[in-house]
Amino acid sequence: MTVTDFIHGDCVEIMKGFADNQFDLAIVDPPYGIGQNWKKDKFSQFYDHVNDFNNTIPGQEYFDQLFRVSKHQIIWGCNYYWNFLPPTNNLIFWDKGKDAKKQFGSAGELAYTSFTKYPLMKYYFLWNGCCVCETTKKIHPHQKPVKLYEQCLIDFAHPGMKILDTHLGSGSGAIAAYKLGYDFTGIEKDENYLNDARNRFNETVKQLRIDF
Ligand SMILES: C[S@@+](CC[C@H](N)C(=O)[O-])C[C@H]1O[C@@H](n2cnc3c(N)ncnc32)[C@H](O)[C@@H]1O
Repeated sequence: MTVTDFIHGDCVEIMKGFADNQFDLAIVDPPYGIGQNWKKDKFSQFYDHVNDFNNTIPGQEYFDQLFRVSKHQIIWGCNYYWNFLPPTNNLIFWDKGKDAKKQFGSAGELAYTSFTKYPLMKYYFLWNGCCVCETTKKIHPHQKPVKLYEQCLIDFAHPGMKILDTHLGSGSGAIAAYKLGYDFTGIEKDENYLNDARNRFNETVKQLRIDF
């Protein structure tokens, strides 16, 4: 039986309450500090609500806590945080498909990994806002595909690992962890997004049980 925890609050403050190495793997996707107002204007029609984005890029204190409470890390958007990260040769490139560059000015996203297993991974999941690899409802402007999180877990996690997500957003990480049988803790500062993520998670679990 897996355990899924959703915690409301500022992840830096919440992490201060965790023990050293409490989590085996943190898969995180903090704000990159770019283009949020543009996205808010462009996509607000697609969501039940689009909140004012907390666009503050995390600082040294965040990374100190993250590396203290987790043994391994996968950090999306690492090209915005190099000055806070230890050297690594081990990266993941998420290729979002051929139209992503045209629509978003970026072909994909890059993640830092603390692993030495694979120097460079490339994942392909179509994702350019309108055109996505999943039929799941979008509840968050930065919602990553569940499949992307699943692939990270398939490639880097082992049974029994405890997973941490400090910036839960839509809860895609929680769904992937549940599907693959991992205990998961997700933190989200915005209460609306946290509630939406919890509802999405509960609906998905219900559906998975029906399908099973
Ligand atoms: C880039 S989005 C994450 C999207 C997520 N990967 C997904 O698939 O939906 C970042 C999220 O972090 C939240 N956030 C920003 N600062 C935070 C903080 N200090 N603590 C916790 N959550 C925070 C934002 O509200 C936003 O929902």
